[in-house]
Amino acid sequence: MFTFEPEIPMSDEEFRLIRDLIYSHCGLFFDSDSAYLLEKRLAKRVQLHQLSGFRDYYHFLRYNRKKDQELSDIMDVLTTNETYFFREAFQLKAFTQEIIPEIRDAKAKAGDRTLRIWSAGCSSGEEPYTIAMLLLEMGGFAGWHVEIIGTDISQRVIQQARKGVYGKSSFRVTDEGYVRRYFTEQDGMFRVNDRVRELVTISHLNLLDTNRIALLGRMDVIFCRNVIIYFDQAARKTVIDSFHRVLRDGGYLLLGHSESLMNISTAFALKHLKNDMVYQKPLPPGGRP
Ligand SMILES: C[S@@+](CC[C@H](N)C(=O)[O-])C[C@H]1O[C@@H](n2cnc3c(N)ncnc32)[C@H](O)[C@@H]1O
Repeated sequence: MFTFEPEIPMSDEEFRLIRDLIYSHCGLFFDSDSAYLLEKRLAKRVQLHQLSGFRDYYHFLRYNRKKDQELSDIMDVLTTNETYFFREAFQLKAFTQEIIPEIRDAKAKAGDRTLRIWSAGCSSGEEPYTIAMLLLEMGGFAGWHVEIIGTDISQRVIQQARKGVYGKSSFRVTDEGYVRRYFTEQDGMFRVNDRVRELVTISHLNLLDTNRIALLGRMDVIFCRNVIIYFDQAARKTVIDSFHRVLRDGGYLLLGHSESLMNISTAFALKHLKNDMVYQKPLPPGGRP
């Protein structure tokens, strides 16, 4: 189908102004090679608000009383939301076979039967629901309070995650058995079953919002995969420092396979597990608190 793309030119100066404003809001960094992307994705907004061009749009984003809503709305068109169930199998194996057993044993010994896992930048929910399915498959959490918290900056993907209904492309690497056990087919789509959903809460959260992150409470494991690749070093540092603050001592940070903490943080230890290399917040001297 033909869709009309309005042609509204963005000058270099307008690009820099809008780019910097978006960056300080959410950490997404558009370099000058991706100026055309910003122009293409925001042209419809200029048109929607009946503005004469990108200079007016910049003023709208800065000073209009609806600026916060507009910034929130454009996250839906500026973020890359590609995701699918059971992404990065090696890491998930390390999670179920090494990380979770270690955490479960240490917590059980300390009489703490809570497990809190954060999927930061969860997109449409495939990642937090994958974590929930893996924990259900593992078993051994009777009497535990297990929480998986999925958060994202885009309201559009948050709505999809809450709905929990998926098409074929989300299942590109999913074993048929998981589909049978944890989904119900509805008109050619697949709905996540309630016992999976019950473990997961989905919320809107900007990873640069350090105050709100502090309110999330302590986490045992943080998944933040394929999110910070879109940030520059300074924004990555801000986000990783927040993760360090909310992780429990001995807790794990799982990044995407193309991401690392090199030149970002030395506060985590790189741990070589059998199935993968992962980051761990070091335990205080003397072991578990
Ligand atoms: C490519 S998806 C990754 C999804 C999933 N973690 C995975 O690996 O399959 C990146 C997600 O990060 C989100 N994101 C980008 N910047 C963000 C920010 N500042 N705060 C919260 N989420 C953000 C995007 O909206 C997008 O849904």
